[in-house]
Amino acid sequence: MATIIQPKDDKDGVTNECKKLLSSLPKERGWRTEHIYLFQGYWCQPKQIQAILSFQSHFHALDSDLVLATIPKSGTTWLKALAFAIVNRHRFPISKSDHPLLFSNPHDLVPFFEYNVYMGNEDPAGYLSGLPSPRIFCTHIPYSAMADSIKSSRCKVVYICRNPLDTFVSSWIYTDKIRSDGVPPLPFEEAFDMFCEGKIGYGPFWDHVLGYWNESRERPDKVLFLRYEDMKADVVSHLKKLALHLGYPFSEDEEERGEVERLAELCSFEKMKELEVNKSGKSIMNFENQKLFRKARVGDWVNYLSPSMEERLRKEIEARFQGSGLSF
Ligand code: A3P
Repeated sequence: MATIIQPKDDKDGVTNECKKLLSSLPKERGWRTEHIYLFQGYWCQPKQIQAILSFQSHFHALDSDLVLATIPKSGTTWLKALAFAIVNRHRFPISKSDHPLLFSNPHDLVPFFEYNVYMGNEDPAGYLSGLPSPRIFCTHIPYSAMADSIKSSRCKVVYICRNPLDTFVSSWIYTDKIRSDGVPPLPFEEAFDMFCEGKIGYGPFWDHVLGYWNESRERPDKVLFLRYEDMKADVVSHLKKLALHLGYPFSEDEEERGEVERLAELCSFEKMKELEVNKSGKSIMNFENQKLFRKARVGDWVNYLSPSMEERLRKEIEARFQGSGLSF
């Protein structure tokens, strides 16, 4: 397994060229950093913008690459674990007591383009060529901003989306826990207004989801669109779909032997949350792993949103997704 580079969460580290670009972009207060900027139609932090530019200029997808995509807090950690376990199950049998997922957080097994691969590293050719095949990547980058070679190659893309009410609540709670030094807390009501106005990392939420949704409808062989709630309701049938799309379908024999159920169990919230590495370790951006595992409950938003907030967000969602074939 290749070692994943975890960039530090420092404020500096953007080039003068990027600083010049930032000065020309619309800017808002950030959720966990000082500011976010509207870049190619989406709200991002400065170092992410620099990394996305490098990714767009330099990344060459291979037909065998697998790309997992999400907007933050919609099930990224879960999807990384599932894809890693599916693709590597012959190399790392699910029932073995030394399975990598028992000792590493999924973010240390599947790199993000914009954090681990391209943040602070314009052209990491050496790192990329050292990755085992098939290379599995993850990203929060919207479909429209993907490197061209991802769109034109035969590499597969999987997107997971989550109900926006739960995504908002999960985002606010998480970003409050990982705020950068010196950044004041973002009050819940203010964060809610920002979410409704689309001002959330990699948002607007609806544009992010619709980018992948529309592509999955036009090119179902290319993009598999999954929903967090459907996966929670019936993980086994979605695992079979996921494995098939990734090009690693379960055999009849594996199904009969209960391998799909075992894989689901290995990657379940309850199992992962209790692992020592996820209770005490650090991974993505050096944040504590335990913060990635909160409740994983569908509909937890009812404990946070007032009836008027719910009504406002539902109206927004209805308007934004009208005619798309997708509803929440
Ligand atoms: P909650 O905050 O609602 O608990 P992401 O991985 O994209 O950051 O998403 C985080 C959300 O996924 C959190 O939701 C977290 O609890 C939940 N989660 C983490 N691991 C999971 C797993 N193995 N299965 C299902 N949900 C998981």
